[in-house]
Amino acid sequence: MTQAMAQPPAETSPYLPRVGRIDEVRQFTETDKYFRLSFADGQGIRFLPGQFLEVSVFGIGEAPISLCSAPGDQAGVEMCIRRIGDVTGALHNLEAGATVGLRGPFGNGFDMDEAAGKDLLFVAGGLGLAPCRGFILDALNRRDEFRRVTILYGARTPSDLLFADDLKQWDQRDDCDFHVTVDRGDENWTGNTGVITTLFKKMPKLEPANTVAFIIGPPIMFKFAVLEALAMGLRKNQIYCSLERRMKCGLGKCGHCQIRNVYVCQEGPIFSYAEVMRLREGI
Ligand SMILES: Cc1cc2nc3c(=O)[nH]c(=O)nc-3n(C[C@H](O)[C@H](O)[C@H](O)COP(=O)(O)OP(=O)(O)OC[C@H]3O[C@@H](n4cnc5c(N)ncnc54)[C@H](O)[C@@H]3O)c2cc1C
Ligand code: FES
Repeated sequence: MTQAMAQPPAETSPYLPRVGRIDEVRQFTETDKYFRLSFADGQGIRFLPGQFLEVSVFGIGEAPISLCSAPGDQAGVEMCIRRIGDVTGALHNLEAGATVGLRGPFGNGFDMDEAAGKDLLFVAGGLGLAPCRGFILDALNRRDEFRRVTILYGARTPSDLLFADDLKQWDQRDDCDFHVTVDRGDENWTGNTGVITTLFKKMPKLEPANTVAFIIGPPIMFKFAVLEALAMGLRKNQIYCSLERRMKCGLGKCGHCQIRNVYVCQEGPIFSYAEVMRLREGI
């Protein structure tokens, strides 16, 4: 009789999701919903800004979604999910009380300790505010550790703006400089109109040698925002972005996210622009 191969106990398999419960769902825009989730086992998770979870809807599939809450928030995790296809569509159909699968956290993330003592520039476009928000909340929670904090955010129209409550708070804080713009205003919009690069002219002068920038958004916005940051005098290794690739395992096994010899799910998704230059097709 052949001996069956020993299997690792199920609870140690990185492919096995923990059961998560949706505690709150809010409609942000026509296509984007906010979710607050907790783990059914009552344990929180430790993560860094920029990391993500694989979220599964049982019987449908799994999708990588950024953690957009502040690291250290043990009450649960927050996400902003855009309805794109099968999994995200199924997630949008769920209500508070529903259960989902949660695997992770995955990815490298970014330890904000590395930016301590520096000016911080956050540039978020569209849904890019979701991953960027984790960085911003972490920085604002530890405000004394950083110098000037500047947040630039752009969306297509006023009805595409995400996290309206946060935007109001950041605008009211006197220890950070917040600017928002929309590509196209409406009859009620009194703020800045124009692409996000127009905001660079409105922000206070930062000390380029002592600044770390996080630029997260669609590739076209990233391209032009990086040019602005470079023109300000930032070096390529002072600018960070989040690379989105199609991902499955999150574990460096399936190759879905691979660019050349780099598994974005493991070595990324947060890369410096200097690193992105050698992964050009990733943008
Ligand atoms: C690290 C990481 C973090 C992410 N964070 C978030 C987040 O915070 N919020 C959020 O809403 N989304 C996020 N995404 C994107 C999200 O994972 C995809 O939208 C999701 O996997 C789509 O799955 P689906 O089953 O709903 O769509 P599918 O049914 O698989 O696809 C529907 C259509 O969308 C296209 N598509 C699917 N995935 C992507 C993709 N990643 N990029 C471009 N086109 C795609 C497909 O080609 C197809 O045409 C993140 C992705 C990565 C890699
Ligand atoms: S998602 Fe499978 S290797 Fe990265």
